[in-house]
Amino acid sequence: MMQRSLSHIVRKSIYCGRYFHTTAVRSTLTQVPMAPPDGVLGLVENYNMDENPNKINLTVGVYKDGWGQVTTFPSVAQAQKIIDMDGQMNTDLSYLPISGCEDFKKHTIDFLYRDGCPHDGPALIDEGRISFVQTLSGTGALAVTAKLISSFISTKIWIPKPSWPNHTNIFKKNGFTDIYNYSYYSEGQLTIDKWLQELRDIVSKDKSGIPNTIVLHACCHNPTGLDPTRKQWEQIIDVIHELKMVPIIDMAYQGLESGNLIDDAYLLRLCLDKSRYRTWPNGLYLCQSFAKNMGLYGERVGSLSIVTPDSIPKIKEILESQLKQIIRSMYSSPPGYGSRVAKLVLSNDKLKYQWYDDVRAMVARLKSVRTMISERLGWEDIINFEQQHGMFYYTNLNPGQVKILRDDFSVYLTNDGRMSLSGVNKSNVDYLCNSIKATLHKMH
Ligand code: LMR
Repeated sequence: MMQRSLSHIVRKSIYCGRYFHTTAVRSTLTQVPMAPPDGVLGLVENYNMDENPNKINLTVGVYKDGWGQVTTFPSVAQAQKIIDMDGQMNTDLSYLPISGCEDFKKHTIDFLYRDGCPHDGPALIDEGRISFVQTLSGTGALAVTAKLISSFISTKIWIPKPSWPNHTNIFKKNGFTDIYNYSYYSEGQLTIDKWLQELRDIVSKDKSGIPNTIVLHACCHNPTGLDPTRKQWEQIIDVIHELKMVPIIDMAYQGLESGNLIDDAYLLRLCLDKSRYRTWPNGLYLCQSFAKNMGLYGERVGSLSIVTPDSIPKIKEILESQLKQIIRSMYSSPPGYGSRVAKLVLSNDKLKYQWYDDVRAMVARLKSVRTMISERLGWEDIINFEQQHGMFYYTNLNPGQVKILRDDFSVYLTNDGRMSLSGVNKSNVDYLCNSIKATLHKMH
């Protein structure tokens, strides 16, 4: 007991003119608890240490080709070559502005709001209604959004259940105090009626005057891979608009649903449809990333854009000034290299078409993986291509089964049973499916 309390004491030395006088002081550090390992990236560390030659990593959402390699997309490789050959672009290591590279901003806004939303987007650009900052990928965009909203608008957020575990983490760490989950999924099915009923029951009775914000996965829902149909999205957005909620769109997987980058911006197009929703009085927040669709994971390239209401003078500039102050306090300014690559791909027609092809090829392979698994395990829903999209499939294996797969077969899924499909290929699909069969048999 004595020893225990002494371990909470740190010795402090004070110089008293001729010698150091040592006293014991209590350290507040002892109150810091151990945080749990990250639900996604923590497992990669375990995988790396596993010595089984048959091990399979189906944890993190990183695209691998049919040979199990993380490769650079041809469009991105060509952009890198251009940068390498351009003395100035290659050697300029100075700071970017706080809100990022101006050229990146222009081309990203054009890509998202002119190409992605040709009907309603260009007017928003021309009217100066889009506040924009380059961010550290989608996570950075969400964190900056959370800081801004919690500072000025609301600390209430609705996050789907289930969701990417980092959503809760990001909003909690950035000022949100009231975190609610809406029912998104149960036993292989979307639970949209339940979800909308929950919003109606709780949000419509909220008389605080503080808006409720809501996270929406634009496509390729993480972790389930199951998205609402377009008709269902209309129903959902109608309710969200009617309840005066503030949409935060997380678009980390644009292109990975259909293979067509433009088609996949449909949730943004729907929310900006002026004939349906004239405006979003507290703004619409788009957190977008080039990590997955350009394979620029570690370069941290993405953006936050806020579509502002037309009725508040100078609100675009005011919000941008606040975003800059937040970014300056967090990390000063974003990194340069990845945004140069993305800007080149977006601004050079040849590279842009190549990029469209690269994304199409990635999606075709992910679909072929779904088919290979379905053929071996008889899983029907994994090839429900109308609603099952992207890198992830939710196996509905329980934590005990996930543990057996990991401990006995060195097959790594995240604990919630999510499978990152790109880790599967012709060489390991039989081992994977046999391991799953053996696990299900064992648990029976
Ligand atoms: C994932 O869910 O695997 C990715 O979004 C990577 C991450 O940061 O968790």
